[in-house]
Amino acid sequence: MTEQRGNWTSSAGFILAATGSAIGLGNLWKFPFITWENNGGAFVLVYLVCIAAVGLPIMMAELLIGRKTQKSAVGALKEAVGPAWGLVGMWGVLCGFILLSYYTVIAGWSLFFFAKTAGWMVGGFPAGASLGEIFTEQSANGTLQLGLSLGFSIATVSVVYFGVQKGIEKIARLFLPILFLILALLFTVSFAMEGSGEALAFIFRPSFGELDGGSVLEALGHAFFTLSLGMGAMITYGSYIARNQSVVKASGIIVLLDTVIALVATVIMFTVIFTAGMQDQVSETGTVGMLFISLPQLFFAEGVVPGGRFLAPLFYVLVALAALTSTMSLLEVVASYVIDEHGIARGKATLMCGGAVFVFTILAALSFGGADFATSMSVPGPIGDLFFAGKTSWFGMADHFVSNWMLPTGGLAITIAAGWFMAREASEGELVDDTTPGWFSYDVWAFFIRFVAPAAVAAIIIAVLFFGVDFS
Ligand code: PHE
Repeated sequence: MTEQRGNWTSSAGFILAATGSAIGLGNLWKFPFITWENNGGAFVLVYLVCIAAVGLPIMMAELLIGRKTQKSAVGALKEAVGPAWGLVGMWGVLCGFILLSYYTVIAGWSLFFFAKTAGWMVGGFPAGASLGEIFTEQSANGTLQLGLSLGFSIATVSVVYFGVQKGIEKIARLFLPILFLILALLFTVSFAMEGSGEALAFIFRPSFGELDGGSVLEALGHAFFTLSLGMGAMITYGSYIARNQSVVKASGIIVLLDTVIALVATVIMFTVIFTAGMQDQVSETGTVGMLFISLPQLFFAEGVVPGGRFLAPLFYVLVALAALTSTMSLLEVVASYVIDEHGIARGKATLMCGGAVFVFTILAALSFGGADFATSMSVPGPIGDLFFAGKTSWFGMADHFVSNWMLPTGGLAITIAAGWFMAREASEGELVDDTTPGWFSYDVWAFFIRFVAPAAVAAIIIAVLFFGVDFS
C-alpha cells in the first residue's frame, strides 16, 4: 500500500459523512412503514431500546476497529483481531456489494418521483391520475428503471472517485445541511396540519398488547440497517478518523441524529396520511406504498399539505440526497477493500467496483416486471424458504438475504471480535482519552459489547432459523 490514505479534514466532516451513511432509505422508506405495520407506540419504544443497547455499542466498536488500524473492513479485522477475521471483513464487503446493487434501484425511484412531482408543480396534477398505476408502470418499465439506476450509480461512482476528502466529505458537508433544512421545513408545516396530534399519538403512545416477538426482532434488525452496522461501513469510515477526535462522542451524535431523523420523517408522513384519512390505502399498498404512492398524491390533494405542490418535489430531493450519502458509503466499503488490500489506485478501483455492482443492479432494476427472469427468479425448496423466505425476484431475494442474514451475522461476528478477541488495552486506548465525554464508562460499554449485544443478535438469528421471522 503505497498510496497516501485519506483522512477526514475535521471532526464535523467525519460526523456528517457517517450520519449521511446512516440516514437513508432506511429512515425514510423502511422505518415509517414497519412502524405502521407494527402499530407504532410500543414498537417505536422497543426500537429505541435496540438502538441504545445494541446499536450504540456496536457503532463504537466498528469505529474503534477502523481508527485503531487505519484500514478498511478486511485489513482492519485481520490486524485488530487476527488473520482469520479477514473473512468477516470479506462477508461485509460482499454485503455492501449486494446491498448497493438493489438500494440503487429504490434511490432511482426518487429521481422519477422528483421529475413527476416537479412536472405537476408546474403543470398541475392530472385529473383522475392514479398514483398506484403510475408507480406500477414506472417500476415495470425496464428501460426506464435501467436509466434511473444507471444515473444514480454514476452519481455514486463520481463521488467515491474523488476520495474521502474531495468526494465523500465534500458532498456530505453540502447535502446534509440541505437535508436537515428540508426536513425541518416539512416538519414545521406538518404541525399546522390537522392530523398531527393523531400521528404523534400513534407513534409515541405505547400499547404493549399489540407487540409480539416478531416485532421485537424486526426492531433489532432494523437498528443494524439504519445505522449502517454489521457490514464494515463504519469500520471503513472509522479508518479515516484522526487521532484527536473522540470515537465515543462521534458515535453518540451519529446515533442520535439518525434516530431523530427517522422519528421526524415518520411524524411528517403519518401526519399527512392521518390528515387525509388515507389509513386504509397505506395498509394496502405495502412497503413501497407509503413513500411512492400515498405521499405524492397527498401533496397535491386539496387542503391537506399547505403549499404541498411546492413541497412535493423538494421531498423527493430529500429522499435522493439521503440515498446518495448512503450509497457512497456502500461503494466506499467495496472500493476501499480493493484499494487497501490489492493496491489498486482509487480512480481505477472505484470504476471497477461501480461497474461490477451495476451488473447486479441490472437484475434488481428488472425485478419489478421489467424482465421475466429477474421478476420471477426464486430458489425452491427448504433452502429457498430459509434464506430467501420464498421471495420471487432478484430484488426480493437480495433484500431478504442482506437484512435477515448478512447484517445480523456480520454484526454478531463484529461484537464477538471487539468484545472477546481484542485486547482490553486496544479498545480502551481508542475509546478512553482526554477527548472522551464524561458520561462514558468503558466497563459499561464492555458489558454491552460482550454480553448484551451478542445475546440480542444471536436471538434474532435463532428466531429466523427456527421461527422463520422475516424483517426485510
Ligand atoms: N443506513 C442506511 C439506511 O438507513 C443503509 C445502509 C446500510 C448504508 C449499511 C450503508 C451500510 O438507509
